[in-house]
Amino acid sequence: MAAPDSSSAPKEPFQDPNDVEIVPDDAPYSGEDPAFLTETDAASSTQSLSSSVLSYQYENGRRYHGFREGEYIAPNDDREQERMDLHHHIYRIAVGGDLFRAPVDLNKARVLDLGTGTGIWAVDVADEYPGATVIGTDLSPIQPGWVPPNCFFEVDDFESDWGFSRPFNFIHGRTLAGSVRDGPRLCQQAYSNLQPGGWFELADFLGDEFFSDDGTLQNAPSLVEWARLNTEAFHRFGKEIGIAKDYKKHIIDAGFKNVREEVYKVRTFLTVIFA
Ligand SMILES: C[S@@+](CC[C@H](N)C(=O)[O-])C[C@H]1O[C@@H](n2cnc3c(N)ncnc32)[C@H](O)[C@@H]1O
Repeated sequence: MAAPDSSSAPKEPFQDPNDVEIVPDDAPYSGEDPAFLTETDAASSTQSLSSSVLSYQYENGRRYHGFREGEYIAPNDDREQERMDLHHHIYRIAVGGDLFRAPVDLNKARVLDLGTGTGIWAVDVADEYPGATVIGTDLSPIQPGWVPPNCFFEVDDFESDWGFSRPFNFIHGRTLAGSVRDGPRLCQQAYSNLQPGGWFELADFLGDEFFSDDGTLQNAPSLVEWARLNTEAFHRFGKEIGIAKDYKKHIIDAGFKNVREEVYKVRTFLTVIFA
């Protein structure tokens, strides 16, 4: 259980995410409005839906995010959204149907989902816990418009300084491997944006190697080589694909107590850690 110093909790008045101004844009794919993209990390990046957020990048027939262009390697198009939603179901099946593993009471809780993707987890949590307020953030505004009234989405970079108006009771991040440049900082920001007694959960896959129970992995040398090269590519990019192995250390170093790591065996390895 995390017990951050309550005096360090953000004190600004709460602003309803529904009040975020939507800026009309006549040419959403024009690539104009560069000022938004060059904003420094020192300021909060939570912004109204300006044109640059929708200035998606296109390469090799795939569509990529526009905000903080180049910070995330995967596309955000329909094909990728289907993949993310499929993974949502794989995670749930792997952990016996749960949406999360931390023993947190979400009745009236404030919940943050980092890198929410299609928002499928946030929507399911908001549906299942109507008393909770769930905020999902992502570089891409690809979440649906019709969502439960207690579910909100914001365009934000979780590697920038967080500017949330009030602390959360539960912060969740899933499949962020390969998306995190500074793991210790991510965990520190989670710690200082939680209420005393709040919980932080990261669920991820071990992306840097494959395993086999019966030694048959040695019959798949190309797969092993692919994993090695993939890991090296992410390393050069500056965001480790095998970061799940380091989560526990980063979480403990950030000051969390009651840290628990669960490892599930699925088609690739999956780690859930909560504190
Ligand atoms: C593999 S997807 C996982 C989506 C979701 N968490 C899930 O489990 O269904 C990773 C998501 O993280 C988002 N992302 C990557 N880097 C980010 C950052 N720095 N700030 C916010 N979102 C980020 C990506 O845009 C993408 O939607």
